[in-house]
Amino acid sequence: MTDSLTDAQATLRANDRGGYTVPTARLYPFQWNWDSAFVAMGFSTFDEDRAWREIERLLQGQWADGLLPHIVFHAPSDDYFPGPDTWGTTHTPPTSGITQPPVLATAARLLFDTAMHRGDAQARMAAIYPALLRNHRWWQQARDPRRTGLVATLHPWESGMDNSPAWDRAMARVPTSTSTPIRRRDTGHIDPAMRPREVDYQRFIHLVDCFRAVAWDPARMFAATPFRMADPATNAILLRAEQDLLVLAQRFGTAPEQAEIAGRIAGLSAGIGTLWNNRVGLWTARDLIDDTPVEVGTSAGLLALFARAASGEQSARAAATLTGWAGRVRFLVPSTDPASPCFEPLRYWRGPVWAVMNWMIAEGLDASGQPELAARVRADTVALIDAAGPMEYFDPTDGKGAGGTAFSWTAAIRLLLAN
Ligand code: GLC
Repeated sequence: MTDSLTDAQATLRANDRGGYTVPTARLYPFQWNWDSAFVAMGFSTFDEDRAWREIERLLQGQWADGLLPHIVFHAPSDDYFPGPDTWGTTHTPPTSGITQPPVLATAARLLFDTAMHRGDAQARMAAIYPALLRNHRWWQQARDPRRTGLVATLHPWESGMDNSPAWDRAMARVPTSTSTPIRRRDTGHIDPAMRPREVDYQRFIHLVDCFRAVAWDPARMFAATPFRMADPATNAILLRAEQDLLVLAQRFGTAPEQAEIAGRIAGLSAGIGTLWNNRVGLWTARDLIDDTPVEVGTSAGLLALFARAASGEQSARAAATLTGWAGRVRFLVPSTDPASPCFEPLRYWRGPVWAVMNWMIAEGLDASGQPELAARVRADTVALIDAAGPMEYFDPTDGKGAGGTAFSWTAAIRLLLAN
């Protein structure tokens, strides 16, 4: 094994807190939803039991209505704001009250496909399947109550891309007043120049206050929120997850469940089609409050390929857009179009390369007949991690690693790319 793979495995082991993995020590001291899906896939390359455990621990945070929260606070920590008191939810173990991109069914399927004939894989998958189904039902009921085919994201944290320029216009309408005093911990761990700004945090917390005030009731949240977006990444990841759940349903579910999932797949496929933006040459978000498309290209806009939701023409155009970006930066895939005035190569989701995005984008490029570009994205990802270590993210202009060190999901992707 190369040093870098040994290091990746050691990173996952070191961030293990007893069956669940923290994204990184101190900066993120709990279990995060989509991080853990990637972490489970990473563990599956060398410890199947531990991979299943990651998913089982995340599901301990699932609510009765099917919501899978974005954070599960398994054990207290003072290193992170906002903690359980600010969320004010009633679940045990404590959780946040919003969600994150639903990668979990895709992770479960990958794990089952590799482990199917070994150990207790059948029994463990059979136990997980109903929770995944309940979660996908929640997405439709809570986030697409009018059955438009697109699910809504109600907080930038739900997109996993906290300060993406895709949210700028919509966030400008969110008040900066909060009833919760803001006590940021992140800027004590990391250079503030790399983190979301103060005013972003005020708006993030304003939204949390707003949802807590309606007792986390999905219908009231949907109605009350000043931020309601159709995110091309969340919708594409959900569509891909539904496809993976359908395969699992053929083994673990009933015929009516398969038909139900197929119905949601049809709806989401049509919905994502409406996010195609010909001016940008990618899928872009739409503001559902005033029905306005976002006009800046971000890496989220490549994930329709991962969902196999693109026409031949759209795939070719999206690949051309990405090739254009490659002419401006040394490493793919920058999280924001490097030609955009919003591009900031070190500030979180406004420019840096994120390994998990690269993994999904490369899968999507392969699925849409762009193997060379897929290989380029994978090679860049490996080169970045091997040079800088499993950092939180990377500067696309010079490859420097930034943010938190010894990051779990980056390590997980390094392991997946070795296979
Ligand atoms: C940040 C990222 C989010 C991730 C979390 C834990 O909030 O924006 O995507 O899940 O950190 O790594």
